Amino acid sequence: MRRHANFHSVRIQSGRKWILPFFASLLLSVTLFLSWIFGFFSVPYAGDQLQVDVISLTKSEDSGGLFVESELEKEAGGDEHLSVEPPRLAYLISGTKGDSQRMMRTLQAVYHPRNQYILHLDLEAPPRERLDLTQSVKSDPTFQEVENVRVMAQSNLITYKGPTMIACTLQAIAIMLKDSLEWDWFINLSASDYPLVTQDDLLYAFSNVSRSLNFIEHSQISGWKLTHRGKSIIVDPGLYLSKKTEVSWTTQRRSLPTSFKLYTGSAWVMLSRSFLEYCIWGVDNLPRTILMYYANFLSSPEGYFHTVICKAEQYRRTAISHDLHYIAWDNPPKQHPRYLTINDFDKMLESNAPFARKFAKDDPALDKIDKELLGRTGRFAPGAWCAGSSEGGEDPCSVLGNSSVFRPGPGTERLWGLLQDLLTEEFRSKQCS
Ligand SMILES: *[C@@H]1O[C@H](CO)[C@@H](O)[C@H](O)[C@H]1NC(C)=O
Ligand SMILES: *[C@@H]1O[C@H](CO)[C@@H](O)[C@H](O)[C@H]1NC(C)=O
Ligand SMILES: *[C@@H]1O[C@H](CO)[C@@H](O)[C@H](O)[C@H]1NC(C)=O
Repeated sequence: MRRHANFHSVRIQSGRKWILPFFASLLLSVTLFLSWIFGFFSVPYAGDQLQVDVISLTKSEDSGGLFVESELEKEAGGDEHLSVEPPRLAYLISGTKGDSQRMMRTLQAVYHPRNQYILHLDLEAPPRERLDLTQSVKSDPTFQEVENVRVMAQSNLITYKGPTMIACTLQAIAIMLKDSLEWDWFINLSASDYPLVTQDDLLYAFSNVSRSLNFIEHSQISGWKLTHRGKSIIVDPGLYLSKKTEVSWTTQRRSLPTSFKLYTGSAWVMLSRSFLEYCIWGVDNLPRTILMYYANFLSSPEGYFHTVICKAEQYRRTAISHDLHYIAWDNPPKQHPRYLTINDFDKMLESNAPFARKFAKDDPALDKIDKELLGRTGRFAPGAWCAGSSEGGEDPCSVLGNSSVFRPGPGTERLWGLLQDLLTEEFRSKQCS
């Protein structure tokens, strides 16, 4: 009996052993299933994201774009921007082999203690040159004191028409965002760019401009260009080879995108911090998707930001189609712009643009700009921040003054002239169309 009972109970127990885990796992599955349905699982991953998405979705859907409008109203009001302190700029100055001296000259011409500067010499430049550039930055007493100039330690292989250029620009922006350095706009320059106004002029003129605006020359790609550019597929070997070669074309073609329109324009930009945070963080998936799309697009620096900004509902009305550069092209235009000389001086001035390109190394036009537009005799184009004396050939900028005070000159007037044209409602209504 005992044995039997034992046997029996063992059987029952083994039966229960099977039943218990079964119910347990059933319960677990049901719980999992229910929580999946109610979206509990996305909470730990993307709680904030989800909320933001939901909010922006309901806002833009319910109020039919009122979100954008109210942003615009804030911009148009502009009063809040007048009361805040003057803007700060973040400059990326990039160059390649043999450019380090020109980069230094451009850096000194656009230097102001309020701003941030990052220099990138690409991988084609020999290590010696990078060392020299780093050394000249390190040994400058003003840079040492203010600590607002950095040289990118990581040197990237850059194909100028390929996505590696964009990747480098994004990296430089990410570095400047991460260090959470204060700045309002990002400007990219090359070694062959030069300013036509002082930083005092520039910062003063932009003091009452809405910090949300993005200066990015753009137009929609259409016609034969659309087929030619949009359907071709390129591969940038700079992404995975250690030696630089030209981009290669595949024989395959792809269809034109239908979920966004392609825009193109100048690769020289002045972008707002807000828009760049949007691009770098990628909380909204659009900037990343378009970046991946542009990996196989020829001349991506002339299209990436342009396509993103015109597709992003909250930013498209902040795009101002101008690259703030004076650039001269041959007639008919060749692939690269013409070198500017002293003969272009008047036209440069008439353009009211704050920058011009491109200049040959040590071109006499640069000396004329230094002398007549920037007042640059020593290292820097002086401004109100230079508090030292200039007696006996001393450098007034060796003594740092108040960098929130400006001494605007004729450059400010020219800039206001340009901004007046760009910020009219009529001009702005045509953006991203
Ligand atoms: C930034 O500036 C460089 C000049 O070195 C240019 O070649 C590049 O295409 C620019 N634009 C972007 C979006 O990287
Ligand atoms: C900024 O102020 C100047 C001088 O008052 C004016 O000429 C210019 O139009 C203003 N710009 C903007 C965008 O309000
Ligand atoms: C610098 O100038 C600004 C504007 O005039 C003023 O508000 C600020 O107090 C000054 N800062 C210093 C340190 O003097």
